[in-house]
Amino acid sequence: MIIAIDGPAASGKGTLAKRLAAHYALSYLDSGALYRAVARDMLSIGVALTDRPGAEQAAHDLDPSSLDDPALRTFDVGKAASVIAQYPEVRAVLLDRQRAIAKTEPGAVLDGRDIGTVVCPNADVKLFVVASPKERARRRHQELQAAGNTASFDDVLEEIERRDARDRDRATAPLQQASDAHLLDTTILDIEAAFKVAVDLIDAAMGPTGRET
Ligand code: DC
Repeated sequence: MIIAIDGPAASGKGTLAKRLAAHYALSYLDSGALYRAVARDMLSIGVALTDRPGAEQAAHDLDPSSLDDPALRTFDVGKAASVIAQYPEVRAVLLDRQRAIAKTEPGAVLDGRDIGTVVCPNADVKLFVVASPKERARRRHQELQAAGNTASFDDVLEEIERRDARDRDRATAPLQQASDAHLLDTTILDIEAAFKVAVDLIDAAMGPTGRET
C-alpha cells in the first residue's frame, strides 16, 4: 500500500505521514529531507545554490544515512532546499531514491510536494494537506523558537509565502493537488483530529487492514 501526502510547508503533512506510517506499519519517507540534505551539503561545502551541476552532483553524492540530521530543520536550509528543488536534474536524481523506498514491502507513506503527481501517481490513497499561511507560519515559528532560532513571526510568514510561490510556480513537478487526492485542511484541526480524518479516508478506500475493499 502506498499513501502519498503532499502539501505546502508546515501544513502538518510530515507529522501526519509519520503517524499514518506507524498506524499501518509502513515505511516512511520525508522527501523534503532529501532536498534539504542536498541543500545542507551544498551550503556546508560552499557550492553556490545557483550552481546547477554542483547541485546535481550533491544529489548524486547524498548519504541517505544523514537524513535525521537536526541541521536539516533550520530556516536557511529549508529556504535553500526550495531553491535547488527547482532544478529538474536534481529532481531526477532524487526521484529514483524516492521510488525505491515506495517499492519496499508492505508499502510506504511518502510526504512532499509531488508525491501524488510525479513520484507515485498510482498511490493507493492520496492526501493533499493544506492550512492557511498564517497558521503554518505560527507552527513553523513555534518550531524554530523551540530550536533556539530567533526569526520573527513576520519573517517566517514572509518566507512561507515566498516558499509557497517557488514550490507552486516552478516548471518541474510543482506543488499541486493531484486530481484524485483528498483535500485535508488542518487550519483548525490539531494533529489528533487530522489523523482521525485521514484514517477514516484511508480505511474507506483500503479497509482497516490496508487491503483494498
Ligand atoms: O517539506 P519541506 O519543507 O521539508 O521541503 C523543503 C523543500 O524541498 C520545499 O520547499 C520544496 C522541496 N520539496 C520538493 O520540491 N519536492 C518534494 N517532494 C519535497 C520537498
